[in-house]
Amino acid sequence: MKINLGKYELEKPVALAPMEDVTDLGFRLVCKEFGADVVYTEFISSEGLIRSARKSTQKLVTDEKERPVGIQIFGGDPNVMAEAARMAEDAGPDFIDINAGCWVPKVAQRGAGAGLLKDLDQMRAIIHAVRTAVSIPVSLKTRLGWDSNSITIFEVAKICADEGLAALTIHARTRAQHHDGEANWDWIRQVKETAALPIFGNGDIRAAQDALDMFEFTKCDGVMVARGAITNPWIFRDIKALMGDGTLPPAPTLEERAKTCVRHLEMEIELKGERRGLMEFRKYYHGYFHGVPNGSTLRSTLVRLETLEGVKDAIGSFVIRSADKLTAELPGLKGAPTDSLV
Ligand SMILES: Cc1cc2nc3c(=O)[nH]c(=O)nc-3n(C[C@H](O)[C@H](O)[C@H](O)COP(=O)(O)O)c2cc1C
Repeated sequence: MKINLGKYELEKPVALAPMEDVTDLGFRLVCKEFGADVVYTEFISSEGLIRSARKSTQKLVTDEKERPVGIQIFGGDPNVMAEAARMAEDAGPDFIDINAGCWVPKVAQRGAGAGLLKDLDQMRAIIHAVRTAVSIPVSLKTRLGWDSNSITIFEVAKICADEGLAALTIHARTRAQHHDGEANWDWIRQVKETAALPIFGNGDIRAAQDALDMFEFTKCDGVMVARGAITNPWIFRDIKALMGDGTLPPAPTLEERAKTCVRHLEMEIELKGERRGLMEFRKYYHGYFHGVPNGSTLRSTLVRLETLEGVKDAIGSFVIRSADKLTAELPGLKGAPTDSLV
């Protein structure tokens, strides 16, 4: 089944999941460049939006280059969610996504996020209110149920289809599992057998082959990657290549990693200023230098640096040192990287 998101009709899309404090505009653009077909903002509080709280309104910013992009909102009150959805629509996304999966107590215990799994009438009221408030497509992202004794995903899929949602994303864990244990893809497979709307499968796609396995096993219409993209934003390129001609591209070189990292950092600084940009960027160093020899030493240096120039110098000399080391180990090797990162 194709997935229709406004002007976009997508066949087997690979999505970057919404992730609080991770999928800001800079990270979304990097993943988009590597092949993510759909991206989502971090979740945004509907209460915060209608009060015009800075933290919430800042997250509404999207860019032409990342389309199709969805703005994800959460909340437990249909009227507030409808108003927030209208505000989100004004920011120009391609669709609105309703969060019905966040397990964090301060969200779920207030009847928002996964809290909606305990009250499906309220979930329906929220979906209906949002759907009728906006003219762009609406989707929903949720979990299997509150806990293993209350698997509600079949009812939720029916509600979403009845209300005319564009897609349903299933994170194949319960609220009680948080992010622990294994995602159980068999539930996605079962829902897909009867669901009357497109399904994104989500949970434990950590390597490119996992995405193909999820398509194959569950027959889902799209897949969604979260943590696997933090540790490896190249995962989208790899998935698309495997889905294409079936071969995995070579792993990114140290130079590619370094250049992408610096470019991403520069985008963050442009968006947030140098101090905040650098602070908030620290979580990404792990992904860019994951699996690189001596990468952990570099990471521990980078997280202490307070200027962009300092970071560029540290990364630049690390790349040169690594190339010199490689040249010394393999005397026949020519062409150590010489072009500057800066
Ligand atoms: C740091 C982090 C932040 C997250 N924030 C959100 C969020 O804002 N909205 C949402 O729907 N899910 C959020 N999630 C859940 C992910 O979108 C995804 O459903 C979950 O991590 C399972 O996918 P994975 O196994 O590929 O990581 C978050 C997950 C992580 C790790």
